[in-house]
Amino acid sequence: MSEPTNSTFRPRIFSGIQPSGGLTLGNYLGALKRFAALQGDQAETVYCVVDLHAITVWQDPQVLLSRTREAAAAFMASGVDPAQSILFNQSQVSAHAEMAWLFNTVARVGWMYRMTQFKDKAGKNSENASLGLLAYPALMAADILTYQATAVPVGEDQKQHLELTRDIAAKFNHDYGVNHFPITEPLIEGVATRVMSLRDGSKKMSKSDPSDASRINLTDDADTIAQKIRKARTDADPLPGQMDGLKDRPEARNLVNIYAALADETPDQVLGRFEGQGFGAFKPALAEVAVEAMAPITRKMSEYMADPAQIDAVLADGAERADAIARPILDRTKEIMGLLRTRR
Ligand code: AMP
Ligand code: TRP
Repeated sequence: MSEPTNSTFRPRIFSGIQPSGGLTLGNYLGALKRFAALQGDQAETVYCVVDLHAITVWQDPQVLLSRTREAAAAFMASGVDPAQSILFNQSQVSAHAEMAWLFNTVARVGWMYRMTQFKDKAGKNSENASLGLLAYPALMAADILTYQATAVPVGEDQKQHLELTRDIAAKFNHDYGVNHFPITEPLIEGVATRVMSLRDGSKKMSKSDPSDASRINLTDDADTIAQKIRKARTDADPLPGQMDGLKDRPEARNLVNIYAALADETPDQVLGRFEGQGFGAFKPALAEVAVEAMAPITRKMSEYMADPAQIDAVLADGAERADAIARPILDRTKEIMGLLRTRR
C-alpha cells in the first residue's frame, strides 16, 4: 500500500455549523467570513448546516426548522454564494448518517470519551447524555470524509475533533490496506479563531451562553451591538503599542482581536493607532467598525428570511449536488468493507 497523501485527492473544502441557536460574531469571524473567502477556483467548497449534530441535545422541532433556515441565511448573508459553493442541510443527504455508522465501527470508545466538547456538554451527569452526543465526532468525520475533503476551516474549539477525523481516516486506510480517505488539514487561521465572551475573557463567545450580553448575535441591530460593546468587560489601563503588552489582559486582547478581524488588519496595526488610549476611546471606535461590518449581514439575513421558500430551494439544489459527490464515495467505502451490494 502506498502512503496516503492528499495530493492523490482533488482539493475540496468542507465545513459545517450547527443550527442549535442564533449565530454569533464568533461564528462569523471564526467560520463564516472565512468560508466566503475560501471560495474560488482553488478548491471546491462544500458547506453544511449540520442539523443531525444539533439534535444530539434536545431541540424543539419547530424552532429547529426555523434555525436551520436562519443558519442557511447567515451563510449566504456572509458571502457564501450557492453558485460557487454547495450549501445544504445535512439530514437531506443520507450518506452522512450511513458513513457515520461505518465510522462507529472504526473509532474507539476511548477516543470519544476523551473529547473535551463531550465532557463540557455532557457535564456531571454524562450517563444521561444522548448516545449521539458521545458519537458526535464520528458523524463529523463522516461529514468531512464522505466528500474526501482535504481541508476544513473551523475555529480553534474544533481542533480536537479534526484530529479525531484524521485518526479515523488513518485507521480505516490502515485496517483495510487502502488509500481511500485523505488525512484532512485543519484550517485554523487568522486572529479570530477563538473569539471570547464579552463578559468573561476566559470563556469563548457562544450561542449557548445564558447571558445575551456575552455575545453579539448576527441578528442584533446597530444599537444593541454598540451597547454590548460599551458594556463589555475591560480593565482601566491604557492600551500598549503591541500585542505582547496584552498577555495578561484577556478581555482587552479579545476586543483588539475582534477589531483587527473586522477591519482586516493585524492586531499590532490596530494598537499602533490606539497606543496610550483607554477603552473610553477604543470602545466607540470598535462599535463603529462592528456596526459597519455587521449591518449589511444582518440586513441580508432578514431579506433571506423573508422568503423561506427560496432558502429551501437553494438547500434542495445543494443537497442534490452534495449527494452526487457523496454517494459514490459511500458506495466505494462499503465495497472496501465487504458489504454485499445487491441493488444498483
Ligand atoms: P458551532 O456554532 O459550534 O456549530 O460552530 C460553528 C463554527 O464556528 C466552528 O467552526 C467553530 O469553531 C466556530 N466558532 C464557534 N464559536 C466560535 C468563537 N467564539 N470563536 C471563533 N470561532 C467560533
Ligand atoms: N462540530 C462542529 C461545531 O460544533 C460542527 C461540524 C459538524 C463541523 N460537522 C462538521 C465542522 C464538519 C467542520 C466540518 O462547530
